[in-house]
Amino acid sequence: MATTTGGSGGYAQKVAVDAAMVIPIPDGLGFEEAVALLNDGRTALGIARAVAPKPGEWVLIGAAGGGVGSLLIQVVKQAGARVVATASSAAKLDLATERGAEVAIDYTRPGWQDRVREATGGSGVAVACEAIGGAIGRASFELVAPGGRFIAFGAGSGTMTQVSEQEAATRQVTLVPMGAAFPSPAVMQEMSVQALADGAAGRLRPAIGQRFPLERAADAHAAIGARTALGKTLLIP
Ligand SMILES: NC(=O)c1ccc[n+]([C@@H]2O[C@H](COP(=O)([O-])OP(=O)(O)OC[C@H]3O[C@@H](n4cnc5c(N)ncnc54)[C@H](OP(=O)(O)O)[C@@H]3O)[C@@H](O)[C@H]2O)c1
Repeated sequence: MATTTGGSGGYAQKVAVDAAMVIPIPDGLGFEEAVALLNDGRTALGIARAVAPKPGEWVLIGAAGGGVGSLLIQVVKQAGARVVATASSAAKLDLATERGAEVAIDYTRPGWQDRVREATGGSGVAVACEAIGGAIGRASFELVAPGGRFIAFGAGSGTMTQVSEQEAATRQVTLVPMGAAFPSPAVMQEMSVQALADGAAGRLRPAIGQRFPLERAADAHAAIGARTALGKTLLIP
């Protein structure tokens, strides 16, 4: 069985939750993989639902070597779209490529935006899925071609990307809210079930980069904060 704690997270070996929120882990899916997929797989499926990538479209996925990013690549690829992945290290870029990104670019290097434009034939991307905010988030928005879509789903730098409706309209870019990913709690629960089913069927492969015993949760957070964690980080009871 797997469940979320309702959005607040938690560090415990036992937790009381609404029985309706408990999801059986399907045959063929390991417990750790289920844990790695439950939240991040649901998020990836929700983002893809919101931006609806079309076959042949270029989709920019930031933080591509993280838990959500490495799954989002797979969902977007399955829709027939092409992925430009961005991340901060060779290990994360290698993971993104292994999970299906066609192009992988280090966004800590100067000129990375030019490399994204070159990869897309100069036009920019049809969709940007942004998880960093700050300067990288702004640059990602500017890489969306006219007529494209932009979704911000995270704030790795500490602030979400801020784009005004007027600015987006001027650039003919649609700002897709995260509310479009999960229009209701029922849809969110359906997506959790779907994420586990996709994992069992081999359509979604989580990347569990590191495991820490529960009593070393602080070290897990330190690794995430230092940006050395690859894919999903698990705490093991
Ligand atoms: N809205 C939602 O429903 C929802 C649900 C789940 C997650 N999220 C958000 O989505 C984002 C990605 O989630 P995740 O689970 O994939 O997280 P994750 O596995 O920890 O990956 C986050 C990535 O952020 C990047 N990053 C940039 N600056 C960072 C910093 N100062 N400290 C730490 N990481 C930094 C890192 O990639 P690089 O080193 O390559 O830059 C890291 O791989 C997070 O911001 C999370 O809060 C939102």
